[in-house]
Formats: sequence, structure tokens, C-alpha cells
Amino acid sequence: MSSALLSIEDLNVSFKTSKGIVKANEGISLEVRDGEILGLIGETGCGKTTLGKAVLRLLSENAKLDGKIVYRGTNLLSLPEKEMRRFRGKEIGIMLQNPSACINPVLSTGRQIAEIYRYHEGMGKKEAEKKAGDMLELVGISSLRKNDYPHQFSGGMLQRVMVAIGLALRPGLLIADEPTKGLDQDMKVQIAELIVGLVRKENASMLLITHDLDLAGSLADRLAVMYAGEIVEIGKAEAVISKPKHPYTLDLLHSLPGKGLRTVLGQPPSLVSPPSGCRYHPRCSFRFDACSRVHPPLLGPDGEGFTRCFLSEKERRKETLEQPLLNAQPVIGCEKEEIWHC
Ligand SMILES: Nc1ncnc2c1ncn2[C@@H]1O[C@H](COP(=O)(O)OP(=O)(O)O)[C@@H](O)[C@H]1O
Ligand SMILES: [Mg+2]
Repeated sequence: MSSALLSIEDLNVSFKTSKGIVKANEGISLEVRDGEILGLIGETGCGKTTLGKAVLRLLSENAKLDGKIVYRGTNLLSLPEKEMRRFRGKEIGIMLQNPSACINPVLSTGRQIAEIYRYHEGMGKKEAEKKAGDMLELVGISSLRKNDYPHQFSGGMLQRVMVAIGLALRPGLLIADEPTKGLDQDMKVQIAELIVGLVRKENASMLLITHDLDLAGSLADRLAVMYAGEIVEIGKAEAVISKPKHPYTLDLLHSLPGKGLRTVLGQPPSLVSPPSGCRYHPRCSFRFDACSRVHPPLLGPDGEGFTRCFLSEKERRKETLEQPLLNAQPVIGCEKEEIWHC
């Protein structure tokens, strides 16, 4: 098994807001291994972007963090800000969800990439411009367009520029937050394959953040599923897709176009006052009485997979998965002890 490049240990992130404390990430523990693509999936608002930004300490001032984020042996959360800058871009590249937060509209794209080399590597202007042109070519844009401004590029081309910015310094880890959002299906596939191809070629690792389970399932080595600020399942991508262990993962799968297009019932919970017990229990068709009272830990490992659900995958398959989901009845009345042994 390859070793951990990034290891997140019991990370909690909360935001102070006028409506209360938003617990955006709670007790997150996961690792991104050398050369692996880890997909982080979950509905909008579950805390994915918060996690990605937390790694590079890019969160707003109302954020409070505790836990550890260890990159190649260094706990990033204990570094002074000045030393942290060394990690941004050079060690860990990021493609933010919102291109306008990354791309300056009044600088030509070539110049923006060249500035990265000048700032981080102290290159002269000519050399930096040449490297910027090479980078544009690498992402499939002619270097002749290096003097063009962002507004002269289509959405897909702008995503390519974002890829060039994220990978300019050949980081060991790329955090790509919804890199294909807003693109049509063909463009989505092209951009995703471009990013994955470049990351694999560099032997780099990637945290691929997306709400698109289809995309993550086809590109990632492992998948981590997030619900209401917590990781509820983690395992090899093919195992998570073919044998989901958590009812939320199963419901997400059933919402895919090829798998029934059934939307996940109910609304994501408030992260100011999340449900007691298992956070998914109000929406879960498999819930036990105890699920509303007892907060499940990440259980496992089963092979390499962990799940934050008391029901074993085997038991759920027996109870309901072999029947159409619509016929499934909630299972009520099992006490914690019984759950642990069932
Ligand atoms: N700067 C912030 N201040 C207050 N709340 C925030 C801030 N950023 C994110 N949140 C809240 O944290 C939760 C998780 O958000 P986010 O990480 O963006 O989710 P996702 O990327 O999965 O859509 C949401 O409830 C969101 O409103
Ligand atoms: Mg997001």
C-alpha cells in the first residue's frame, strides 16, 4: 500500500456566523496517498470546499480549525503564515471552485501564469513567459494566445487555464474543487481527463472534490463520501460504487441518470444544529430506533472500506438491497448492542 502524502487527522472546522456556529467539518480523518486520486463527494453545502481550503489555510477569518493536517510529515496547521506560503502552489496546487477567485480579469492569461514562476521561482521575465507559454500548450491552448485576456476564453478554455495555474509549479498534490462545474458533458469529460492525465503523468496525487459521483467514480482510485460535515464512507472507488456501505452513498447512486434518477429525499440538515445520532437518520430508509440517539463512529475496516453506519453492508443487503429500494421499509426498534452485533 502506498504511503500517505497528506494525512488529515480529526479535523474540525467551524464558522462563526450571525445564525450561530456552522460546524462545516467535524472529526475528519482521511489520507491522500502517494500517486493516488481521492474523490471527495457529497451534496452542496456538506463541507467539501471547506476541507479543500482548510488544507491550504485559505479559509476566511471567521473560521476556527483544530486537528492536524500533515503534508509530507509537516503539520500545516502549526506553521507560521510565512512558512505556509511555501506550500501554496509549490507543494500543493489548488483549483478553486470559482475561477474568478483565481483568475485576474485584467491580466493576460500568459502573464498570470508567468507571475507564478516569477514569484515562487524568482525567474526573469522572458524565461517566465516562455514557461507560461509551455504550460498553456500542455493544457491544450496555443501559446500564441498568451496575450489574450480571460474574457476572450470560453468556459472550457478558462478551466484549462485554471489547470495550468494549479499545476504550474508541478505540485505533489493538486486540490481540484469542482473542476468541471458548469461545463457541458463533452467538455466535462475532456477537462477531467486532461487533469487526471497530467496528474498521473507527474506521479502527483489529487484530491478531486465534486458533487458528481459519476465523474469521481470513474476517475478516482478511492472515494470519500461526505454528509453534513462528516465522512460517512471511504473505500476503493469500485467498491463504493458497486457495494455502497452507507445508505447515503446508496441514495446518491440511485440519483444518477443511469441508476434511476431518484433524488435523495429530504433536505440536507443545518450545520448549526445537525440531527442527533446519525446525521443521515432523518432521511434514511434503513434507520433503527438507535440511529437517532447514537452517533456512529467510522466502522471498519472491511477490506479497505470504512462506513459511519451501524448496519453492516451484508445485513442491509439481506434486509433490503436485494429488493427494489422503493419496497424497503424502515427497520425500527434495534438497540445499540444489537446493531453492533448484527
Ligand atoms: N466563510 C464562511 N462563513 C460562514 N459559513 C461558511 C463559510 N464558508 C462555508 N460556510 C458554510 O459551511 C458549510 C459548508 O460549505 P462548503 O464547504 O462550501 O460546502 P460544499 O463545498 O460541500 O458545497 C455551508 O453551510 C456553508 O454555508
Ligand atoms: Mg463547494
